[in-house]
Amino acid sequence: MDRACTDCLVLAEDQDELRAFKAEVSAGLSCSPKRLHSRFFYDKAGSDLFRSITRLPEYYLTDCELEILRKSGRKIMSLVGDGQFNLVELGSGDGSKVIHLIDPVLAENRRLTYLPIDLSASALEALTSFLCRHSPNLDVRCIVAEYSPGLQWIKSHLDGPTMVLFLGSNLGNFDQAAAQAFLTEVREGLAPGDLLVIGLDLRKDIDTMVRAYNDSGGVTAEFNLNLLRRINRQLGGNFDIGNFRYYSTYNPQSGGIDSFLISLRCQSVFIRELCTTFDFEPGEPIYTEHSHKYSETEIRRLASQSGFVLEASFYDSRKYFVDSIWRVPGVTDHLPPLTDR
Ligand SMILES: C[S@@+](CC[C@H](N)C(=O)[O-])C[C@H]1O[C@@H](n2cnc3c(N)ncnc32)[C@H](O)[C@@H]1O
Repeated sequence: MDRACTDCLVLAEDQDELRAFKAEVSAGLSCSPKRLHSRFFYDKAGSDLFRSITRLPEYYLTDCELEILRKSGRKIMSLVGDGQFNLVELGSGDGSKVIHLIDPVLAENRRLTYLPIDLSASALEALTSFLCRHSPNLDVRCIVAEYSPGLQWIKSHLDGPTMVLFLGSNLGNFDQAAAQAFLTEVREGLAPGDLLVIGLDLRKDIDTMVRAYNDSGGVTAEFNLNLLRRINRQLGGNFDIGNFRYYSTYNPQSGGIDSFLISLRCQSVFIRELCTTFDFEPGEPIYTEHSHKYSETEIRRLASQSGFVLEASFYDSRKYFVDSIWRVPGVTDHLPPLTDR
């Protein structure tokens, strides 16, 4: 970790993450249907592959959100008030988005502390080295942690106005109940007046959504297959990667893209660290990810059920994506929603 211009707090050590990965693989490959949680995509190789995905022409999500932040970053940051504040980012990625929020604040000589929270030390390393070059005077405190412990640390150690960023439709990987519980937890860690900026992918033409997860270069397939490679590397598995294929499809009933790794033949895989052999039938899937696509109604409901007031919505020019601004209400707060600007 580049410490030249940042502090780094490690709440999730490598061995904690390895233990969690082992438990997930053991439980996920023992159940029927088999599953592996998408949070485990992001080892170093997975984080690098995700950065490649964000540059794919088919993966419109990153370009749409960048368009919103470039166009409206200054307006979004004006909602946080005039004084010094904390900018917390959950699952921060490589920093290419956050600079469009940070730069307008620094240009006005305002002060902020930026606190990215991410499980992936390698993603935070890439972010840190980028920010050290881009904004050497920015106060950055990286937190290598799972979202919940990271948020708890913030709650017990930080004072002052806070804006939390949860960009890139990261929430879309949570099922409905988990999303509401998580957003409630975020709100409970904040004070009245604090803000959550949440980037969500909207429902649109099905072919556009499906193409985003089926790029012609096969990068998304590699990103998913890296889960099996990670098992081979870290847990002594003997997956033959060529015996699996990636498949993803839009589920109109749940309203999201579902991704799978499918066994191409009858096979057995031994995982040394688990001392277990897992059997696969031909065509048997491992469910790897749900990427939810939101309707406006769902977004309003999620905000209110988790105790926020929806304050403003910023869209890209095609209305593919929204950055929705939610405020923690005060006791007497009855803010009317602002329309899109
Ligand atoms: C899809 S990437 C999004 C990156 C960035 N926010 C963007 O908009 O492009 C998800 C990031 O969240 C992190 N992440 C996923 N699940 C996490 C969890 N439970 N706790 C902490 N970080 C997590 C991953 O390591 C990864 O860097």
